[in-house]
Amino acid sequence: MSTPGTPLPGMSWSRLLVAPRPLVVIFLAFASFFLLLFYFRSIPPSPTPEPVVLSVAVPDPSTRYEPILIYNRIPKTASTTLMHLPYELCKTLGYNVLLLNITRPQHLLTLQDRVFFANNITQWQSKRPALYHGHFGYIDFDQMGLSGPSPIYINMIRRPLDRLVSYYYFLRYGDDFRVNKIRSRMGDKMTFDECVERKLGDCDPKKMWVQVPWFCGHFKKCWEPGNRWALEQAKFNLAHKYFLVGVTEELETFIQLLEMTLPRFFKGATQMFQNSDAAQHIRKTKHKDIPSEQTVNRMKETKVWKLENEFYEFAYSHFMALKSEFKQTKGIGMFHYEKIRP
Ligand SMILES: *[C@@H]1O[C@H](CO)[C@@H](O)[C@H](O)[C@H]1NC(C)=O
Ligand SMILES: *[C@@H]1O[C@H](CO)[C@@H](O)[C@H](O)[C@H]1NC(C)=O
Repeated sequence: MSTPGTPLPGMSWSRLLVAPRPLVVIFLAFASFFLLLFYFRSIPPSPTPEPVVLSVAVPDPSTRYEPILIYNRIPKTASTTLMHLPYELCKTLGYNVLLLNITRPQHLLTLQDRVFFANNITQWQSKRPALYHGHFGYIDFDQMGLSGPSPIYINMIRRPLDRLVSYYYFLRYGDDFRVNKIRSRMGDKMTFDECVERKLGDCDPKKMWVQVPWFCGHFKKCWEPGNRWALEQAKFNLAHKYFLVGVTEELETFIQLLEMTLPRFFKGATQMFQNSDAAQHIRKTKHKDIPSEQTVNRMKETKVWKLENEFYEFAYSHFMALKSEFKQTKGIGMFHYEKIRP
């Protein structure tokens, strides 16, 4: 054990002093360097800008905006024109678009398929964010006790008689989109007026019972033409379960509202719609006779039309209120935060 001051064996000050001269020079150089270093460090640093901290923070998965959007589109409401936009935008905005193709004649999924669909899309991480679209009635995800996020529902509806007339001629003449596709009534030249006159199936007022049951959902009573309970359910769902429902007659405003409120899916949609020929090319039925006043009056006397029209007006008045709000504010936020603590 060595006492203080006693040099360690084999190491003594005298040896350092007799060390070769270059070693002493190096030692002194180092010593003065450190002295200078200490001297300068004691001087307060000049106010240089704060160094930039390179953040390597990984986004918190719970705050990532990876929503699921469902557009359960109704045939003959210009939904193809609308869907053209996300099919373009998804490439640059980075999200997925998936068509749910139902292989049964009704626009309804079986209970089993609904459960599968709900579980599948809420757990399918690699396909998020996602926009699912297809011709199917409203599905209530809240009923199923899912752990994942609730999807956001959007839709678009149209004046019920216009929609029926459009569908009637679409079956006979097709449209400009898929010109060569054979439609089920191709070659039939009967006008809608004649059809109503002869009380044939394709213009049966019951054929207007589409938008109410669509929003009402998968409950059987929803699909009973002219059922008032179904109308009330449809109104309830439209008001509480749908984020936004546009009308075909105001398609451009609908696109503007979608872009403003769901930019993750629709950023750039308005300009794309206004500029591009393809997007502007509203899917027109090639041949369309305007129904006579007599036909219109006849259809409007039916209970189905009355309830369907009540539903349309319900949606329309709300949409027009959103439109005037949007025109007034021009998308500028009308609130701010104050008294933020701590
Ligand atoms: C849906 O699937 C059927 C059968 O596979 C197919 O014939 C039809 O073209 C599909 N519909 C659409 C819109 O792709
Ligand atoms: C969802 O369904 C598709 C098609 O059946 C399948 O490929 C996919 O793996 C499913 N995703 C999940 C998370 O179950």
